[in-house]
Amino acid sequence: MTHGGVLQDTHNRIIRDLRISITDRCNFRCVYCLPETEEAANFYRPNSTSPNNSRQANNSPIYHWKPRSQILTFEEITRVARVAASLGVNKIRITGGEPLLRQGVENLVSEIAAIRPIRDLSMTTNGTGFPALAKRLKEAGLGRMTISLDSLDRDNFKKITGRDGLAEVLESIRIAKSVGLSPVKLNAVIIRELNDHEIVRLANFAHEQDVIMRFIEFMPLGTRQAWDREHVVPGAEIIERIAAKLPLTRLPAGNPSETSTRWSLGQGAGEIGVIAPVTQPFCGNCNRIRLTADGKIRTCLFSLGEHDLKPALRSGASDIELADQLQRIILKKEPGHRIGAPDFVQPERTMSRIGG
Ligand code: 5AD
Ligand code: SF4
Repeated sequence: MTHGGVLQDTHNRIIRDLRISITDRCNFRCVYCLPETEEAANFYRPNSTSPNNSRQANNSPIYHWKPRSQILTFEEITRVARVAASLGVNKIRITGGEPLLRQGVENLVSEIAAIRPIRDLSMTTNGTGFPALAKRLKEAGLGRMTISLDSLDRDNFKKITGRDGLAEVLESIRIAKSVGLSPVKLNAVIIRELNDHEIVRLANFAHEQDVIMRFIEFMPLGTRQAWDREHVVPGAEIIERIAAKLPLTRLPAGNPSETSTRWSLGQGAGEIGVIAPVTQPFCGNCNRIRLTADGKIRTCLFSLGEHDLKPALRSGASDIELADQLQRIILKKEPGHRIGAPDFVQPERTMSRIGG
């Protein structure tokens, strides 16, 4: 397909990075994402805005997975990736929900890996179900992995994710390294009074395991209104708390669109990063868009509107028409998120239905 042109928005940003959510389903119930466990309810209860809002009178969660028919097929996903690549996208991340829950995910990986301009293909997973798939994913052409790890304490891990899964996730980290899905990055969402006491321990873990540990500020993306600013631990505080215990050296930024500030931990082993979208927004250099599992393009994590590709995909539109649609959508990319603005409105979708 020849189209020419790139995905450029009205703020002179060129989109190079596409995040593809391949399922909205998840086997975890993280308190910051899908908070429907008893622990999550207790944690948030002091707020008037408890996630009990997410329950109906009969106490069943009002969360519903999308029906199969609304979820893009592998062929549709690969086609969007190919059209995006023809417009200059060269980096793709496969996310969920939990992407490893989608059957045959390795087949999708190999289809996307074969798209030539894509030079960086990664996946974000909660790490369950990974040991059995690791080799196949690597062979299919996956480049690297990001695994969520919010706690190194079995009970706290369970409290945060709703699952007794720490041992399996630690095993997944070991396997990701051993099959060469590297650099292995770990994501820890830091929430005050929940896991902020584990910050230094998590940084030490990065050093011991020689992996990249990324501390992420808690963003308003979970079930509506569960977020509050008091639970956000600012990136600067995270760094201060680590620097008080470990030798940190600031590393130069790799490229302008990088979301994290990076630090080495001494003696070359491991690295930490801090992603601070709440206190230090990086929207000015954002080169990302997202495709949801049900075929919507989101131009920002916090977009209130989205753009449906499914009608075009399912009515015989040509690649050129799809490319035109993508270019028109990009013109609507917001200058930045408005967390903290008095009129900020949280998006309806949780992270599990957007893709990290
Ligand atoms: N705030 C910050 N990070 C979040 N994630 C999910 N929800 C939130 C939130 N509310 C992160 C998870 C996962 C990635 C996909 O997004 O840590 O690693
Ligand atoms: Fe947790 Fe990710 Fe599942 Fe959300 S999608 S509940 S962040 S594991």
